[in-house]
Amino acid sequence: MIRSTLLVLALSLPSVFGQSPEWGQCGGIGWTGATTCVSGTVCTVSNAYYSQCLPGTATTTTVSTAPPTSTSTATTSTASSPASTGFVTTSGTRFTLNGARYTLIGENAYWLALGGYSTTDINKALSDIAASGATTVSRLISTRGFNEVTSANGIYFHLWSGRSATVNTGANGLGMLDTVIAAAKQHGLRLIVSLYSSRSDYGGMDVYAAQLLGSGQSHDVFYTNPTIIAAFKTYVQAVVTRYVNEPGILAWELVNEPRCSGSSTTASSSCTVSTITTWVSTMSAFIKSIDSNHLVGLGDEGFFNEPGNSDYMYQGSAGIDFVANLKVSTIDFGTFHVGNCWGETNTVPWGTQWITDHATAMTNANKPVILEEFGISNSSTRASTYTTWYQNVISTGLTGDLIWQAGSQLTNGPTANDGYAIYPGNPEYAAMQAHAAALKARG
Ligand SMILES: *[C@@H]1O[C@H](CO)[C@@H](O)[C@H](O)[C@H]1NC(C)=O
Repeated sequence: MIRSTLLVLALSLPSVFGQSPEWGQCGGIGWTGATTCVSGTVCTVSNAYYSQCLPGTATTTTVSTAPPTSTSTATTSTASSPASTGFVTTSGTRFTLNGARYTLIGENAYWLALGGYSTTDINKALSDIAASGATTVSRLISTRGFNEVTSANGIYFHLWSGRSATVNTGANGLGMLDTVIAAAKQHGLRLIVSLYSSRSDYGGMDVYAAQLLGSGQSHDVFYTNPTIIAAFKTYVQAVVTRYVNEPGILAWELVNEPRCSGSSTTASSSCTVSTITTWVSTMSAFIKSIDSNHLVGLGDEGFFNEPGNSDYMYQGSAGIDFVANLKVSTIDFGTFHVGNCWGETNTVPWGTQWITDHATAMTNANKPVILEEFGISNSSTRASTYTTWYQNVISTGLTGDLIWQAGSQLTNGPTANDGYAIYPGNPEYAAMQAHAAALKARG
């Protein structure tokens, strides 16, 4: 929902030569960087794909065999807790983990893997998120399509050269996501990873069309053109198979905020809600065929398809049918967003009704549904608005929610604030802490 220019951030990447820093990767299938760790840390195997420099020394026990009993530092006390193992699954309208209820509550932090932050700063940000009561962090990789580039600069995930593209698995590519995943697990957090973006802020769907078909394409050729679908599957396969055994990932989402039209391109006249539902079926089934461990969601704004309804968000003209997409057998849960209520005048009651209507759809589908992004830019009414919406999440039985967006004070100052960021100490942060406790108690 949020559209501000991401600041150009100074890169502060862990060295891929020499020794890996604390929390950095030091081994695993496909890893070509350093395999030794800086003093005071030990290279510890997380899984076949990932070894990490954890605090400790080689002459004493490693974290994996003897978790510290001290709770003074969250970064080490949860290193091998059961919360870091097992895959989140669903049971009716709820998420479960290792047989127990998993309360999905948290924040969006697209910048974690994209901002060029040091592992120290990533740990600080995740510590702030965890202290809010969160269990989950959403929208990694692709909220802004930032991963999609045609020249290799800074952090990027997918590099195009003409009609061919390669996934960047280096330290300035998926290596950043590896670091975030490993750190998140240390804080008892799981990630929802959005594989792609419909928006064109920093790449996105329109890049596929431009590279593979040439300029001037409708936005929705992404959903229908066989060449584009095949290329997108190749990219998805490379990312998903890399993390297939990674419990730190809660779910994959197909794409951030898909619509028939793009943020800078238009829709063809043939694009309807069924165009996108067909694509959702194809892509979610494809992911399930290569990854049976992870949940799959869409990442849409949650528009309803009620032709004739005068409200844009309910009339289907964007190309999204929330109810139909949630019925797709390979979609495990539903997502919806609300950002300033798209210009609705009565923001608070409109958003409250929007939550109620998605809770009804949740019950009808018997699948979890999450309010995945919500944000109000008016700071004078924001805390009270969120409190009202939180109360409606609790009372309607909606599965969970994720605020847009997390903020932290890091080494070089505050993380980027698009007008919606919530920092520790803000009233909205305290409201979230109270809500997280209430949601966990509600079950
Ligand atoms: C923010 O909300 C307050 C209270 O409703 C209102 O007076 C003010 O005009 C709003 N600010 C903006 C920029 O809309």
